[in-house]
Amino acid sequence: MAERKLAISDFYRMKEEREMITWLTCYDFPTAQFEENAGIDMILVGDSMGMCTYGYESTVPVTMAQCIAHCDAVRRGAPNTFVVGDMPFMSYQTSDVEAVVNAGRFIKEAGVDAIKLEGGKRVTSRISAIIDAGIVVCGHIGLTPQSSAQLGGHKAQGVTAEGAKLVIEDALAVAEAGAHLLLLEAIPEEVGKFIASKLTIPVLSIGAGGGCDGQLLIVSDVIGQFQAFIPKFVKRYADVAGVITRAVESYVKDVKSKAFPEQTHCYPMKKGEMEKFQELIKSYT
Ligand code: KIV
Repeated sequence: MAERKLAISDFYRMKEEREMITWLTCYDFPTAQFEENAGIDMILVGDSMGMCTYGYESTVPVTMAQCIAHCDAVRRGAPNTFVVGDMPFMSYQTSDVEAVVNAGRFIKEAGVDAIKLEGGKRVTSRISAIIDAGIVVCGHIGLTPQSSAQLGGHKAQGVTAEGAKLVIEDALAVAEAGAHLLLLEAIPEEVGKFIASKLTIPVLSIGAGGGCDGQLLIVSDVIGQFQAFIPKFVKRYADVAGVITRAVESYVKDVKSKAFPEQTHCYPMKKGEMEKFQELIKSYT
C-alpha cells in the first residue's frame, strides 16, 4: 500500500523519473480494498462497468446515477488511492455547461479525484470548461468505446500513417486544452511512445504498448472474471470465474447431499432450554 494518497503532482514526478504508473478499473467496494492493499497507484471507475457488472453489450447505456453509485462504493473501499470517475455517454456531449455540471457531481457526490472523458479535438472546449471549474481531467483518445460505431467497431486506431496523424493531433489538442492526464487506447506501440515523448503530461496506455508512462487494464479481464471476449492487449493474472464456479458447484453438491450445514454452522439452544422447548413443541401437536 502507498504511504499516502498520490496526487496529480506525483504522476508528473513519476513520468519524469520514468517510474511506471499502475492503473486498474474497479467498480465495487471489496475489489477497491483489494486493489488499494495491493498497492495500485490509480483506480478508474470505468463505464466499462456496463459490460463488466451490468451485462450490457456496450458502455452506451451506462447512466450518471450508476457511475456515481459505483464511484461512491470504490471511494469508500480505497480511501487512500487516486480515483478517476469516467463520464458516461451523453453526460458531456451536449454542452460545456452540462459537462461541468456532471463532472462536478462526480466530485461532490462521490469524492473522486479526477474525471475522464472520451474524445480528442471535438471535446477540447469541454475539457477546458471542466478544468476552469477546478477539476482534474484525464483525456481518452484512440479507440473511444462510446463512439465506436463511428470508428467502425472496437478496432485499433492509428494503424496507418494517416490514422496515426489523427491520433497525434487529438493528443496535442487534448494536452493544449489543459488535460492533466491522457489515456491512449488500442493504438500501435510506436504511436503511443511518440505521443508520450512529445507531451509533458503523463500518458497512460490501455493497448498502446510499453512506451507510455503507465498501464491501465480492466480488472475484470485481469482477474479472469469477464467472459464475453478477451481484447488483444489483456494479460490474465487469475481465473476468478473458475474459482467462483468451482465454489458454487461444491456448495450445490454439499446442500444436495446434506453435507452442509455441519454442526459447527448451527446455533445451539441456550443451556437448560431444550426441555422447555420439547414441552413447547408438544403443545403444537
Ligand atoms: O470504462 C473503461 O474502463 C475505459 C477503459 C476501456 C479505458 O474507459
